Amino acid sequence: MDLIIAKDYSDLSRRASRIIASEIKKKPDLVLGLATGSTPLGTYQELVRLYREEGLDFSRVVTFNLDEYYGISMDNPQSYHYYMFENFFKHVNIKPENIHIPDGMAGDVEAHCKKYDEEIAKYGGIDLQLLGIGQNGHIGFNEPGDELLTATHLTNLTQNTIEANSRFFKSMDEVPKQAITMGLGTIIQAKKIVLLASGKNKAEIMAELLDENAVSTKNPASFLLLHKDVTVIIDEEAAKIYRQMTQSPDSSKKLHVREVFLWPS
Ligand code: PGA
Repeated sequence: MDLIIAKDYSDLSRRASRIIASEIKKKPDLVLGLATGSTPLGTYQELVRLYREEGLDFSRVVTFNLDEYYGISMDNPQSYHYYMFENFFKHVNIKPENIHIPDGMAGDVEAHCKKYDEEIAKYGGIDLQLLGIGQNGHIGFNEPGDELLTATHLTNLTQNTIEANSRFFKSMDEVPKQAITMGLGTIIQAKKIVLLASGKNKAEIMAELLDENAVSTKNPASFLLLHKDVTVIIDEEAAKIYRQMTQSPDSSKKLHVREVFLWPS
Protein backbone atom coordinates (compact mmCIF):
# COMPACT_ATOMS: atom_id res chain seq x y z
CA MET A 1 0.00 0.00 0.00
CA ASP A 2 1.43 3.36 -0.96
CA LEU A 3 0.39 6.33 1.10
CA ILE A 4 0.33 9.87 -0.19
CA ILE A 5 -0.34 12.55 2.39
CA ALA A 6 -1.62 15.55 0.48
CA LYS A 7 -1.48 19.09 1.80
CA ASP A 8 -5.20 19.66 1.61
CA TYR A 9 -8.32 18.64 -0.30
CA SER A 10 -7.31 20.47 -3.52
CA ASP A 11 -3.91 18.83 -3.48
CA LEU A 12 -5.54 15.42 -2.90
CA SER A 13 -7.93 15.99 -5.80
CA ARG A 14 -5.16 17.05 -8.14
CA ARG A 15 -3.04 14.03 -7.27
CA ALA A 16 -5.93 11.60 -7.73
CA SER A 17 -6.88 13.12 -11.08
CA ARG A 18 -3.28 12.96 -12.26
CA ILE A 19 -3.11 9.23 -11.52
CA ILE A 20 -6.36 8.64 -13.43
CA ALA A 21 -5.23 10.83 -16.33
CA SER A 22 -1.93 9.03 -16.61
CA GLU A 23 -3.68 5.63 -16.69
CA ILE A 24 -6.02 6.89 -19.44
CA LYS A 25 -3.04 8.10 -21.45
CA LYS A 26 -1.39 4.69 -21.10
CA LYS A 27 -4.62 2.86 -21.99
CA PRO A 28 -7.21 5.03 -23.76
CA ASP A 29 -9.90 2.34 -23.32
CA LEU A 30 -9.32 2.21 -19.59
CA VAL A 31 -12.00 0.44 -17.54
CA LEU A 32 -12.48 2.87 -14.71
CA GLY A 33 -14.35 2.10 -11.50
CA LEU A 34 -15.90 5.20 -9.98
CA ALA A 35 -17.18 6.29 -6.60
CA THR A 36 -19.64 8.93 -5.39
CA GLY A 37 -19.88 10.95 -2.16
CA SER A 38 -18.21 14.23 -1.24
CA THR A 39 -14.63 13.01 -1.44
CA PRO A 40 -14.22 12.43 -5.20
CA LEU A 41 -16.00 15.66 -6.21
CA GLY A 42 -12.73 17.60 -6.47
CA THR A 43 -11.18 14.79 -8.48
CA TYR A 44 -14.05 14.94 -10.98
CA GLN A 45 -13.68 18.72 -11.23
CA GLU A 46 -9.97 18.30 -11.96
CA LEU A 47 -10.66 15.63 -14.57
CA VAL A 48 -13.14 17.95 -16.26
CA ARG A 49 -10.48 20.68 -16.24
CA LEU A 50 -7.95 18.26 -17.77
CA TYR A 51 -10.49 17.41 -20.48
CA ARG A 52 -11.21 21.07 -21.25
CA GLU A 53 -7.74 22.49 -20.97
CA GLU A 54 -5.45 19.62 -21.85
CA GLY A 55 -7.63 17.48 -24.10
CA LEU A 56 -7.76 14.43 -21.83
CA ASP A 57 -9.81 12.04 -23.95
CA PHE A 58 -12.61 9.98 -22.41
CA SER A 59 -14.07 8.82 -25.72
CA ARG A 60 -12.93 5.22 -25.26
CA VAL A 61 -13.02 5.08 -21.45
CA VAL A 62 -15.51 2.63 -19.95
CA THR A 63 -16.84 3.27 -16.45
CA PHE A 64 -18.47 1.14 -13.76
CA ASN A 65 -19.80 2.81 -10.64
CA LEU A 66 -19.46 1.12 -7.31
CA ASP A 67 -23.01 1.47 -6.13
CA GLU A 68 -26.47 3.02 -6.31
CA TYR A 69 -29.24 3.53 -3.77
CA TYR A 70 -32.02 1.01 -4.15
CA GLY A 71 -35.57 2.24 -4.68
CA ILE A 72 -34.85 5.59 -6.27
CA SER A 73 -34.93 6.29 -9.98
CA MET A 74 -32.01 7.61 -11.99
CA ASP A 75 -33.61 11.05 -12.49
CA ASN A 76 -33.94 11.53 -8.72
CA PRO A 77 -31.39 14.22 -7.74
CA GLN A 78 -30.32 12.02 -4.81
CA SER A 79 -29.42 9.10 -7.06
CA TYR A 80 -25.84 8.33 -7.89
CA HIS A 81 -26.80 8.38 -11.57
CA TYR A 82 -27.76 12.01 -11.16
CA TYR A 83 -24.62 12.78 -9.18
CA MET A 84 -22.36 11.22 -11.81
CA PHE A 85 -23.94 13.00 -14.75
CA GLU A 86 -24.12 16.37 -12.98
CA ASN A 87 -20.61 16.26 -11.56
CA PHE A 88 -18.70 14.47 -14.25
CA PHE A 89 -20.17 12.66 -17.23
CA LYS A 90 -22.03 15.54 -18.86
CA HIS A 91 -18.87 17.67 -18.81
CA VAL A 92 -16.56 15.27 -20.66
CA ASN A 93 -16.64 13.32 -23.92
CA ILE A 94 -17.49 9.94 -22.45
CA LYS A 95 -19.91 7.86 -24.53
CA PRO A 96 -23.23 7.14 -22.77
CA GLU A 97 -23.02 3.49 -23.82
CA ASN A 98 -19.71 3.17 -21.97
CA ILE A 99 -21.22 4.25 -18.65
CA HIS A 100 -22.40 1.59 -16.19
CA ILE A 101 -24.14 2.29 -12.89
CA PRO A 102 -26.31 -0.22 -11.01
CA ASP A 103 -30.02 0.39 -11.60
CA GLY A 104 -31.69 1.41 -8.34
CA MET A 105 -35.07 0.46 -9.78
CA ALA A 106 -34.08 -2.98 -11.07
CA GLY A 107 -37.00 -5.40 -10.75
CA ASP A 108 -35.06 -8.64 -10.66
CA VAL A 109 -32.19 -7.39 -8.50
CA GLU A 110 -30.37 -10.69 -8.39
CA ALA A 111 -30.29 -10.98 -12.18
CA HIS A 112 -29.29 -7.32 -12.48
CA CYS A 113 -26.36 -7.76 -10.08
CA LYS A 114 -25.20 -10.90 -11.88
CA LYS A 115 -25.32 -9.07 -15.20
CA TYR A 116 -23.35 -6.15 -13.75
CA ASP A 117 -20.47 -8.45 -12.77
CA GLU A 118 -20.67 -10.19 -16.14
CA GLU A 119 -20.39 -6.82 -17.91
CA ILE A 120 -17.30 -5.97 -15.87
CA ALA A 121 -15.80 -9.34 -16.78
CA LYS A 122 -16.70 -8.79 -20.46
CA TYR A 123 -14.49 -5.70 -20.49
CA GLY A 124 -11.64 -7.69 -18.95
CA GLY A 125 -12.17 -6.40 -15.39
CA ILE A 126 -11.63 -3.01 -13.85
CA ASP A 127 -8.24 -1.42 -14.54
CA LEU A 128 -8.42 1.34 -11.97
CA GLN A 129 -10.94 1.57 -9.14
CA LEU A 130 -11.44 4.86 -7.33
CA LEU A 131 -12.71 4.45 -3.77
CA GLY A 132 -13.87 6.58 -0.88
CA ILE A 133 -14.17 5.16 2.61
CA GLY A 134 -16.96 5.42 5.19
CA GLN A 135 -16.23 6.44 8.76
CA ASN A 136 -17.07 2.83 9.60
CA GLY A 137 -14.62 1.45 7.03
CA HIS A 138 -17.18 0.63 4.36
CA ILE A 139 -16.09 0.68 0.75
CA GLY A 140 -18.86 0.94 -1.79
CA PHE A 141 -21.75 -0.08 0.43
CA ASN A 142 -19.97 -3.10 1.85
CA GLU A 143 -20.80 -2.43 5.47
CA PRO A 144 -19.01 -3.92 8.51
CA GLY A 145 -20.66 -7.13 9.68
CA ASP A 146 -20.18 -10.83 10.25
CA GLU A 147 -19.63 -11.52 6.59
CA LEU A 148 -18.87 -9.64 3.42
CA LEU A 149 -20.22 -10.68 0.05
CA THR A 150 -17.92 -11.02 -2.91
CA ALA A 151 -20.17 -10.23 -5.88
CA THR A 152 -22.44 -7.28 -6.68
CA HIS A 153 -25.50 -7.48 -4.44
CA LEU A 154 -28.35 -5.69 -2.69
CA THR A 155 -27.45 -4.66 0.84
CA ASN A 156 -28.96 -2.96 3.87
CA LEU A 157 -27.25 0.25 4.94
CA THR A 158 -26.08 0.51 8.54
CA GLN A 159 -27.45 3.21 10.83
CA ASN A 160 -24.03 4.87 10.80
CA THR A 161 -24.12 5.19 7.00
CA ILE A 162 -27.75 6.36 6.97
CA GLU A 163 -26.81 9.08 9.45
CA ALA A 164 -23.65 10.07 7.56
CA ASN A 165 -25.54 10.27 4.25
CA SER A 166 -28.54 12.12 5.70
CA ARG A 167 -26.61 15.36 5.12
CA PHE A 168 -27.57 15.05 1.45
CA PHE A 169 -31.30 14.59 2.23
CA LYS A 170 -34.01 16.76 3.80
CA SER A 171 -34.48 14.29 6.63
CA MET A 172 -33.10 10.99 7.82
CA ASP A 173 -36.36 9.27 6.83
CA GLU A 174 -35.68 10.08 3.19
CA VAL A 175 -32.33 8.28 3.09
CA PRO A 176 -32.77 4.96 1.26
CA LYS A 177 -32.16 2.00 3.52
CA GLN A 178 -30.81 -0.29 0.83
CA ALA A 179 -28.33 -0.08 -2.02
CA ILE A 180 -26.86 -2.16 -4.80
CA THR A 181 -23.10 -2.38 -4.42
CA MET A 182 -20.18 -4.12 -6.02
CA GLY A 183 -18.96 -6.79 -3.62
CA LEU A 184 -15.54 -6.95 -2.05
CA GLY A 185 -14.47 -9.55 -4.61
CA THR A 186 -15.40 -7.33 -7.53
CA ILE A 187 -13.52 -4.41 -5.97
CA ILE A 188 -10.42 -6.34 -4.99
CA GLN A 189 -10.11 -7.77 -8.49
CA ALA A 190 -9.44 -4.30 -9.91
CA LYS A 191 -5.90 -4.15 -11.19
CA LYS A 192 -5.16 -0.89 -9.43
CA ILE A 193 -6.98 0.84 -6.57
CA VAL A 194 -6.86 4.47 -5.44
CA LEU A 195 -8.55 5.20 -2.12
CA LEU A 196 -9.26 8.78 -1.08
CA ALA A 197 -10.03 10.17 2.37
CA SER A 198 -10.35 13.77 3.37
CA GLY A 199 -11.11 15.65 6.55
CA LYS A 200 -11.03 15.03 10.27
CA ASN A 201 -14.06 12.72 10.18
CA LYS A 202 -11.88 10.17 8.40
CA ALA A 203 -8.82 10.49 10.66
CA GLU A 204 -9.85 7.69 13.00
CA ILE A 205 -10.70 5.11 10.34
CA MET A 206 -7.58 5.95 8.36
CA ALA A 207 -5.36 5.52 11.42
CA GLU A 208 -7.09 2.19 12.03
CA LEU A 209 -6.64 1.06 8.43
CA LEU A 210 -3.02 2.14 8.17
CA ASP A 211 -2.19 0.49 11.49
CA GLU A 212 -4.03 -2.71 10.63
CA ASN A 213 -2.13 -5.90 9.96
CA ALA A 214 -5.09 -8.23 9.81
CA VAL A 215 -8.19 -8.31 7.64
CA SER A 216 -11.55 -8.22 9.32
CA THR A 217 -15.14 -8.06 8.14
CA LYS A 218 -15.57 -5.44 10.89
CA ASN A 219 -13.47 -3.14 8.73
CA PRO A 220 -14.24 -3.87 5.07
CA ALA A 221 -11.44 -1.55 3.88
CA SER A 222 -8.92 -3.81 5.62
CA PHE A 223 -9.35 -6.25 2.70
CA LEU A 224 -7.41 -3.78 0.59
CA LEU A 225 -4.33 -4.93 2.50
CA LEU A 226 -4.51 -8.10 0.40
CA HIS A 227 -4.15 -6.13 -2.84
CA LYS A 228 -0.77 -5.45 -4.30
CA ASP A 229 -1.45 -2.11 -5.99
CA VAL A 230 -3.31 0.25 -3.69
CA THR A 231 -2.52 3.94 -3.42
CA VAL A 232 -4.10 5.74 -0.50
CA ILE A 233 -4.31 9.51 -0.83
CA ILE A 234 -5.33 11.41 2.29
CA ASP A 235 -5.09 15.03 3.28
CA GLU A 236 -3.38 16.30 6.40
CA GLU A 237 -6.65 16.37 8.34
CA ALA A 238 -7.43 12.75 7.58
CA ALA A 239 -3.80 11.86 8.36
CA LYS A 240 -3.76 13.58 11.74
CA ILE A 241 -4.11 10.56 14.03
CA TYR A 242 -1.90 8.39 11.82
CA ARG A 243 0.78 11.08 11.98
CA GLN A 244 0.55 11.24 15.77
CA MET A 245 0.85 7.47 15.97
CA THR A 246 3.85 7.19 13.67
CA GLN A 247 5.61 10.14 15.25
CA SER A 248 5.37 8.77 18.77
CA PRO A 249 8.80 7.41 19.85
CA ASP A 250 7.55 3.89 20.56
CA SER A 251 5.89 3.38 17.18
CA SER A 252 7.56 1.38 14.47
CA LYS A 253 6.88 2.17 10.83
CA LYS A 254 3.85 0.19 9.74
CA LEU A 255 4.97 -2.70 7.61
CA HIS A 256 2.30 -2.72 4.98
CA VAL A 257 2.66 0.97 4.17
CA ARG A 258 5.28 0.54 1.50
CA GLU A 259 6.16 4.12 1.05
CA VAL A 260 4.93 7.42 2.36
CA PHE A 261 5.02 10.44 0.12
CA LEU A 262 4.58 13.75 1.84
CA TRP A 263 3.70 17.01 0.23
CA PRO A 264 5.37 18.72 -1.53
CA SER A 265 6.57 15.74 -3.47
P1 PGA B 1 -17.92 10.63 1.47
O1 PGA B 1 -18.39 9.14 1.47
O2 PGA B 1 -16.94 10.78 0.36
O3 PGA B 1 -19.16 11.43 1.25
O4 PGA B 1 -17.28 10.89 2.80
C1 PGA B 1 -17.46 8.11 1.36
C2 PGA B 1 -18.14 6.79 1.57
O5 PGA B 1 -19.11 6.71 2.35
O6 PGA B 1 -17.71 5.81 0.96
